[in-house]
Amino acid sequence: MSKPRILIARAIFPDIVDRLRQHFDVQDNPEDVIWSPAELAERLADKDGAFTTGSQRIDATLLAAAPRLKIVANMAVGYNNFDVDAMTAAGVQGTNTPDVLTETTADFGFALLMATARRMTESEHYLRAGNWTKWSYDMFAGSDIHGSTLGIIGMGRIGQGIARRGAFGFGMKVVYHNRSRLSPALEAECKATYVGKEELLRTADHVVLVVPYTAASHHTIGAAELAQMKPTATLINIARGGIVDDAALAVALREGRIAAAGLDVFEGEPRVHPDLLTVPNVVLTPHIASATVPTRRAMANLAADNLIAFFDGRGPLTPVNQPVSTTTAPR
Ligand code: DGY
Repeated sequence: MSKPRILIARAIFPDIVDRLRQHFDVQDNPEDVIWSPAELAERLADKDGAFTTGSQRIDATLLAAAPRLKIVANMAVGYNNFDVDAMTAAGVQGTNTPDVLTETTADFGFALLMATARRMTESEHYLRAGNWTKWSYDMFAGSDIHGSTLGIIGMGRIGQGIARRGAFGFGMKVVYHNRSRLSPALEAECKATYVGKEELLRTADHVVLVVPYTAASHHTIGAAELAQMKPTATLINIARGGIVDDAALAVALREGRIAAAGLDVFEGEPRVHPDLLTVPNVVLTPHIASATVPTRRAMANLAADNLIAFFDGRGPLTPVNQPVSTTTAPR
């Protein structure tokens, strides 16, 4: 019997491509070319499955051009690149990679918070540029992490990991805002108190964003929200571009309306709003919150396992939708 055909849309670990080749007829992309939507559709025209990262849009137009496609396995916990309704309507299974990246991403959120509040990259650039000629009492004085108030918007698994680090590692008071309130047991475990968004913005010394991107979470933080924050506050975005209005943030940073920001994700990335590149009080990283070798391997292996389990007839391991028919036979 012939093997199902799959497309691996971006370069991934070669040994994981080899593992997939044992189960599938694989077309991969070792040169890591960024295909246009039309080029992606052309390659998916004869494929039964796809391995994607968060940057390939899977929508109704693409699905119409890929009549055999039955599953798209995203190597990311976020799946805002999927039009889930269109996939469900077309009977296409979507999967993501939850859990395996939670602690690594929470570590990074905390690292970005520390680097931002303590002005680490700004001071390093100063030193590297040869500007350090004497110590002075107020040189790169930032704000404290320990004992301060941490506000977390989005209290899923990663938000909870950040709360635990803040409460138990740094003695922070943790407040959070989320679509739904956590159970009392989980609140106690994270030592976190539920508050309204406005109260969080008004009282937090550090605001960390970990909400999924949806139409409802677009510009969760814009000019009005930035105006509610303390002028000494820091803002961290490890969620998705578009959760923050980057243009409004650049203005707030330039005018000192908040002290600093740490951003791992950007509206329209990999482009970065040019004004963010010119303000000094922002730490910028290229969407690397889950980027450790063990975690990226675990993500890639989970995406591969989803494809293998699906075509073995065991069903997807971490589905994001429930298409009416998830048959592995041609659609
Ligand atoms: C995720 O898993 O969603 C990360 O942002 C990597 O894309």
